[in-house]
Amino acid sequence: MSAVEEPDPAPVEIDPTRVSQARVYDYLLGGTENYEVDREQARALEAAVPDVAEIARENRAFVTRAARYLARHAGIVQYLDVGSGLPTAENTHEVVQRVDPEATVVYVDHDPVVLAHGRALLAENDRTRMVGGDAWHPAGILHDPQVRAALDFARPIGLLCTATLHMYSGDDRDLPVRVMREYLDALPSGSYVVLSHLYDPEEQGESAAMRALEHAARTGGLGSGGARTHAEIAAMLDGLEPLEPGIVETYRWWPSGPRTTPVGVAQRLVAGAVGRKP
Ligand SMILES: C[S@@+](CC[C@H](N)C(=O)[O-])C[C@H]1O[C@@H](n2cnc3c(N)ncnc32)[C@H](O)[C@@H]1O
Repeated sequence: MSAVEEPDPAPVEIDPTRVSQARVYDYLLGGTENYEVDREQARALEAAVPDVAEIARENRAFVTRAARYLARHAGIVQYLDVGSGLPTAENTHEVVQRVDPEATVVYVDHDPVVLAHGRALLAENDRTRMVGGDAWHPAGILHDPQVRAALDFARPIGLLCTATLHMYSGDDRDLPVRVMREYLDALPSGSYVVLSHLYDPEEQGESAAMRALEHAARTGGLGSGGARTHAEIAAMLDGLEPLEPGIVETYRWWPSGPRTTPVGVAQRLVAGAVGRKP
């Protein structure tokens, strides 16, 4: 596969007075690419679920382990990372290019800060590209000329859609399933999908914590279609062969070692899974 073409030079506008999902997440991960409005929102989330940062940390650790699995054991050499976020912690391209320096990664996000930082970070990496796009309109992403130039849709692709689809703020409960269907239909056989999502374990204490978190996210302008149950997340992955251990809280997805601290409520509020398209 040829190297990815030069980065998109489109200018981006950043509004430091409006809360940004990507920057709140960056703050929770210990990053510095955030403004007071984002930190205020993060504090509101912390008021609802005190160890809320654990959701971000466990999710990010899961993404790293899943991407490493795809690169090392599934032979995937091209990736589409939708809702990629700010380059705070281990980025997908760093994880997979450590295994195979020739691996190609296309990041997609709609946040101007993510686009600006991503393009700056990737200026020297000719196998990685940052593309602006809306996760809820798969056709726009899947037919984007930059995406098509970088990825060969006749060969297996690793699709990452992690901690993104719960950002939806509309009322259409089935939209995530339809949107995932469009992505899955476009992927060739042998492709892998990594999904993570805010999770409602349908247990009293955790569900109450999740409702408080959803409320804080909505009233703070962060959006959030909120958590999905196990069955709802399974519907988003319909037709894929699930990898063991299936859809689980992300801390339980092939942890890299024994836990040394007890599991808190926050760790139970994000689930992840990896599936293969037959
Ligand atoms: C919580 S972060 C997750 C980042 C990364 N995927 C991870 O799991 O660590 C969510 C990201 O999704 C992006 N996002 C939310 N809605 C989006 C949309 N409709 N289109 C593209 N990106 C979106 C946000 O800008 C943010 O960067």
